[in-house]
Amino acid sequence: MKITIIGAGNMGGAIARGLAKGSIFAENEITCTAAGNATLQKLGAEHPQMNLTTDNVQAVAGADIILFAVKPWLMKEVIDQVKPYLAPDRSQLYISVAAGIPCQQLEEWIESYNVIRVIPNTAIEIGRSMTFISASDLSMPQMKLAEQIFSELGNTMVVPESQLAACTALASCGIAFAMRYIQASAQGGVEIGIKASDAQRIVEHTMIGAAELLLAKGTHPATEIDKVTTPGGITIRGLNEMEHAGFTSAVIRGLKECVR
Ligand SMILES: NC(=O)c1ccc[n+]([C@@H]2O[C@H](COP(=O)([O-])OP(=O)(O)OC[C@H]3O[C@@H](n4cnc5c(N)ncnc54)[C@H](OP(=O)(O)O)[C@@H]3O)[C@@H](O)[C@H]2O)c1
Repeated sequence: MKITIIGAGNMGGAIARGLAKGSIFAENEITCTAAGNATLQKLGAEHPQMNLTTDNVQAVAGADIILFAVKPWLMKEVIDQVKPYLAPDRSQLYISVAAGIPCQQLEEWIESYNVIRVIPNTAIEIGRSMTFISASDLSMPQMKLAEQIFSELGNTMVVPESQLAACTALASCGIAFAMRYIQASAQGGVEIGIKASDAQRIVEHTMIGAAELLLAKGTHPATEIDKVTTPGGITIRGLNEMEHAGFTSAVIRGLKECVR
């Protein structure tokens, strides 16, 4: 099976690198394009068997899957460019990672219903993305293939398109919110006497531990919080002080702002 990634920048390049390490595509079954040679040379140095070209038209020939990863405002231009060279029966699978372009619009541009939208987050770079997969028809047979592909790059969830914006707020914007918590916590750690690099490492591993604990046990955060909040103890005092400053409310307001 052959995949062509149009636009091997941050997102497209991370997908290509992840897939090259995975089990679905051999390195030489992956073709990547970019506007200029610099991006492709970097990719080629890491993956010499990958097919790399600045020629989108040449790149789509013979592909089973075409994944568009250019900036949203370039999507129509790139689709128009390759359209005459797509399989005439549109039997290929077309995947878009472009934020904000609805399935219906992509289907019109490509003139195919074999269109899937995918929203990964930047942790895709290390194969730990939370990726959302959507389509006009969630029961289309190609959804399984998309899930299989993106499962090699982290965790996946199939969601109706109407929920994509909210999911993007939680995961794609959410990764920045999690980073800000790490930053704030490490900053506080310095004030209470831990050197910056140690404070950051402590918080990073605390976050990993918290998330993995919930994932492993399937518990609600409140249940785990209960276990560390001894009555009259220091954790509940710290937690309540954060709530007095509006912690939960600030997170919810931030998320709502992302979908406004
Ligand atoms: N970054 C994220 O967190 C994230 C999350 C979800 C979705 N997305 C989506 O991913 C897409 C790409 O974003 P990005 O952050 O990866 O942008 P990016 O790093 O700028 O990558 C875009 C790539 O497109 C290439 N390109 C530009 N014009 C082209 C053309 N005509 N033909 C072929 N390739 C062309 C660029 O080539 P050069 O390298 O030569 O300039 C670059 O490699 C966007 O649609 C965005 O909405 C991003």
